Amino acid sequence: MDTFMYYNPTRLYFGKDTMEHLGTQIPPIGRKILLVYGGGSIKKNGVYDEVMRRLNGFDAHVHELSGVEPNPRLTTVQRGIDLCRKEGIDFILAVGGGSVIDCAKAIAIGAKFKGDVWDIITRKATAEEALPLGTVLTLAATGSEMNSGSVITNWETQEKYGWSSPLVFPKFSILNPEFTYTVPKDQTVYGIVDIMSHVIEQYFNHTGNTPVQDGFCETILRTVIATAPKLLENLKQYEHRETILYCGTMALNGTLAMGIRGDWATHNIEHAVSAVYDIPHGGGLAILFPNWMEHVLDEGVSRFKQFAVNVFGIDPQGKSDRETALEGIRALRSFWSSIGAPSRLADYGINAEKLELMADKAMARGVFGHFKSLDREDVLAIYRKSL
Ligand code: NZQ
Ligand code: ZN
Repeated sequence: MDTFMYYNPTRLYFGKDTMEHLGTQIPPIGRKILLVYGGGSIKKNGVYDEVMRRLNGFDAHVHELSGVEPNPRLTTVQRGIDLCRKEGIDFILAVGGGSVIDCAKAIAIGAKFKGDVWDIITRKATAEEALPLGTVLTLAATGSEMNSGSVITNWETQEKYGWSSPLVFPKFSILNPEFTYTVPKDQTVYGIVDIMSHVIEQYFNHTGNTPVQDGFCETILRTVIATAPKLLENLKQYEHRETILYCGTMALNGTLAMGIRGDWATHNIEHAVSAVYDIPHGGGLAILFPNWMEHVLDEGVSRFKQFAVNVFGIDPQGKSDRETALEGIRALRSFWSSIGAPSRLADYGINAEKLELMADKAMARGVFGHFKSLDREDVLAIYRKSL
């Protein structure tokens, strides 16, 4: 294992009837609240009403920032920062999926920063303080509810970057699986792919002596694979929503990263695609990940064999390690296709026209990837295979 430090201050409330904690968590921190949400799903499914009812229970002044886009944009972050300054906001409550939470994190840090928030997102500047924030999660996918990361898109320059700061760990997050009942089928699939991708990014490492970490990863992957088809049959089945929601948080709250160094190249390659084409993050990952795997296979055939055997139950008898490994990659691709995820960039109408531009975006911060370091040619090769 690598030497590591683990820190996670987010107070997690998970399960039915956890909304009562909203009233106990916010009041000591703040009373002038900015409620941040997306395009209206929380108004349709009753979550907005429940949040407002709970907030009215104590003497809170609630201002609203609505319309946060999937793949949240810098312009929306700036609107939120302006509101915080104008109204003297002292607490931010994000109610929604990863995009809403990521946007709220950027607002929280930007509101206390004298310079341009884009400099923090592009890692040119670091912040000293942030407004406190809490979340009510409505979609299982990103893990943003219990991590310090955020991903923001500058649509004018077609750049999409992840950034992180310990200052933006949510103070608390409330996760009620029932709030995810209304997530439509396609977004449920994207979330499932994203959750699995977070695990896979961390599983493919060269660290060594990580049997517990490997086991955690394999268990989450097997659990998601077993649960996803059942959930997609019945989107309002509590236990399946509960399982997927828990997997989503565990996949990216730092637990799996203890003592290992994940790869994260595929996320970088995907962010460059959604910066240019504004496609759903999980959809992009489903297309790119199997092609990344085939591209880097020879960096660690034994790891890919372990993935095939322990995650997909592939029998290695009578096969070379490489054959077993390739079967594992095929199994991942066909599992994602079986639940309705896209498999080619063409599924989003993306052709070869902007591959060079996307490669430039992906390379903007230099070479990347820890399982295999990728240069521009590698990135282009993976994009071409994904067409
Ligand atoms: O905007 P509303 O109306 O709320 O609708 C949303 C949106 O259209 C809808 N939705 C959410 N909860 C719902 C619901 N619809 C019905 N019922 C509900 N309960 O779902 C759509 C997608 O929401 P979004 O928040 O965009 O999805 P997700 O949680 O997958 O977030 C994606 C964003 O997170 C970033 C991605 O790049 C992308 O920008 N990521 C953030 C990470 C992090 N902070 O750690 C890590 C990830 O790897 C990822 O990159
Ligand atoms: Zn992701």
